[in-house]
Amino acid sequence: MDYSKIPSPCYVLDEGLLRRNLELIRSVQERSGVEIILAFKAFAMWRVFPIIREYIRHSTASSLAEARLAFEEMGSPAHSYAPAYSDSEFGGIMQCSSHITFNSLSQFSRFYPQTIGKNISCGLRINPEFQSVGVDLYNPCTPGSRLGVTADLLDEKLPEGVEGLHFHTLCESSSYDLEATLRVVEEKFAKFFPHIKWLNMGGGHLMTRNDYDVEHLVSLLKAFKAKYPHLHIILEPGSAFVWQTGVLVSTVLDIVENGGIKTAMLDVSFSCHMPDCLEMPYKPAIRNAFDPVPGKPVYRMGGNSCLSGDFYASWSFDKELQVEDRIVFEDMIHYTMVKTTMFNGVTHPSIGIWTKDERFQLIRRFGYEDYKSRMS
Ligand SMILES: Cc1ncc(COP(=O)(O)O)c(C=O)c1O
Repeated sequence: MDYSKIPSPCYVLDEGLLRRNLELIRSVQERSGVEIILAFKAFAMWRVFPIIREYIRHSTASSLAEARLAFEEMGSPAHSYAPAYSDSEFGGIMQCSSHITFNSLSQFSRFYPQTIGKNISCGLRINPEFQSVGVDLYNPCTPGSRLGVTADLLDEKLPEGVEGLHFHTLCESSSYDLEATLRVVEEKFAKFFPHIKWLNMGGGHLMTRNDYDVEHLVSLLKAFKAKYPHLHIILEPGSAFVWQTGVLVSTVLDIVENGGIKTAMLDVSFSCHMPDCLEMPYKPAIRNAFDPVPGKPVYRMGGNSCLSGDFYASWSFDKELQVEDRIVFEDMIHYTMVKTTMFNGVTHPSIGIWTKDERFQLIRRFGYEDYKSRMS
């Protein structure tokens, strides 16, 4: 990428890298005989849906807005799941969905009757109570979790009308985590399998990460399919689609110093534009920077909101930073654009594509009207 051609700040999706991930995902889908769909909650940059549609057809929605986006921009009805549906939105969700998964038995019995005769396949989210995610914020199986129906709440038979089961327990996980989870899911829920048509294994399958054992995933899924040939298996990863497919380009606006700590003040904000860094928390990679090294200049990166904690520490660079220098945050495509805010009215990064023929294409710039129209 030629950063001099890119306005700052800007999220830049690299089309070539996106296609590489899509190819891998399509090949897993074809070789294992399962269906892989895109979870919009991780990535919903609809201008590239035509590219995504070259490889996969469906998506999963967690709200009416995402279901409409599936219907209108992805061009296919959504597999919807939300922790709770409301009367006011459920009609719209039905219009845009082929599958609707309910988080609880009470939501199922309240809304299922409305779906009858509408060509919608209904499912239940189950909670296998098997923890494989270390960070509680991202772990749907913590004790007391509000997500999914636990085995003890189900009778010998599923309620009339349940055609599928859905579990989502993984986060940036390996195929071995899936294998361990499947063992528990089978132990607790396989008695229902003869009575359902599909099983959705949720997201968190990070099959595009370098060290992911793709062959193991394919053989695991094939063996599972062979055991339950009547089940349509669905995986709905989000991060895996856009893992390491682009950057957030930013610029140093100022350098301040306090108590011997130098902070590079940027035209982006961790709080507004990279929220997972503070939530998880995790230290993002910066191109051409590394963990502090004695003898090299060291800087904190400071966000441009007034939140005191809107900074991250600390990186070394080969030479002193200067105002106007570009700071390029790696892997900033998943769970960023979908989560950003305009807190403080800070300038929202533009969105662009670095095309496969090495051109920068600006697809969205945000301005005062975007900020203003969120409120009244
Ligand atoms: C129900 C459900 N499906 C799919 C996903 C996508 O997960 P990931 O982006 O980790 O693959 C999530 C993420 O939170 C989720 O809650």
